[in-house]
Amino acid sequence: MTAAGLPMRVPAPGLPARVRIHEVGARDGLQNEKSVVPTEVKAEFVRRLAAAGLTTIEATSFVHPKWVPQLADAEQLFPRLDGLGDVALPVLVPNERGLDRALALGARRIAVFGSATETFAARNLNRTVDESLAMFEPVVARAKAAGVHVRGYLSMCFGDPWEGAVPVAQVVRVAKALEDLGCDELSLGDTIGVATPGHVTALLTALNEAGVPTGTLGVHFHDTYGQALSNTLAALQHGVTTVDASAGGLGGCPYAKSATGNLATEDLVWMLDGLGVDTGVDLGALTATSVWMAEQLGRPSPSRTVRALSHKE
Ligand code: HMG
Ligand code: MG
Repeated sequence: MTAAGLPMRVPAPGLPARVRIHEVGARDGLQNEKSVVPTEVKAEFVRRLAAAGLTTIEATSFVHPKWVPQLADAEQLFPRLDGLGDVALPVLVPNERGLDRALALGARRIAVFGSATETFAARNLNRTVDESLAMFEPVVARAKAAGVHVRGYLSMCFGDPWEGAVPVAQVVRVAKALEDLGCDELSLGDTIGVATPGHVTALLTALNEAGVPTGTLGVHFHDTYGQALSNTLAALQHGVTTVDASAGGLGGCPYAKSATGNLATEDLVWMLDGLGVDTGVDLGALTATSVWMAEQLGRPSPSRTVRALSHKE
């Protein structure tokens, strides 16, 4: 470790020069908090994340407010995020009603969110997998016609708490379907954090063999079993350059039992800084943001890096 609180920079072969971090703390993190965080605190969180150098910050969700009350203030929050320059502010949109709400506020990036398994599709979207794809079809078409960038999340890619193992071929089918709808990028979700690195490589390889290029793929790991960084490294070695992470390790999913926090952005940046992979993120400023957010939430961050860097004798 250097005196500046950064890891020693020792590059390893076979890794990308730059990684784009898709920051999900304000959405995936806060959607799972028991308490509802005040809108102005959310806005300040996003502003601080942007000031720390994050360029893609998922802001909120335009879902049914009864399903996710923590994000019911999307209409109040989104306009407060004006003035962040080139920072992309994607929002989750499940259906045309959600798209209407997002477009009315000028959103330029949306994400639909599908499931590789039937049980999670039913619990999260009240639909079968194919019904949810049918629900997304007009959303993606209208967004693309409006020049809006579309991300397609795919949950339960590595295991499902109700169905157990999820066959790679089942994930590939739904990923292909999302791509065929016109999604610009896909995010492969390990919603309950059960993936291991060989499984990650196997899924990425199978997707490539099915015609899905690595350049359109991002990874979204939860850290339930402490595997999120190992899985990320496997994905980077495969050529993935978009990695989802959550400041301070906030997160989970309200509709997936046993989903704990996302990969902490600080833990990811510590590893990438050490490897000499550029992220544009200032680790000190990011850690200070997560310490501040932990104070707002009234409990410490679960991120190892946040705890180590903010530890005082
Ligand atoms: P539904 O009950 O089937 O909805 O829910 P519906 O289509 O039958 O409509 C019922 C009523 O809801 C209607 O009102 C609609 O207008 C209204 P009424 O006519 O009866 O007065 N409605 C809405 N209102 C506001 N905004 C909307 C909206 N849509 C319908 N967008 C629905 C279906 C999809 C709406 C519901 O299931 C839902 O909102 N689900 C969201 C769940 C969610 O946000 N989960 C967390 C995100 S996924 C995740 O975290 C995983 C991820 O991180 C990756 C990973 O880790 O795997 C992305
Ligand atoms: Mg998630």
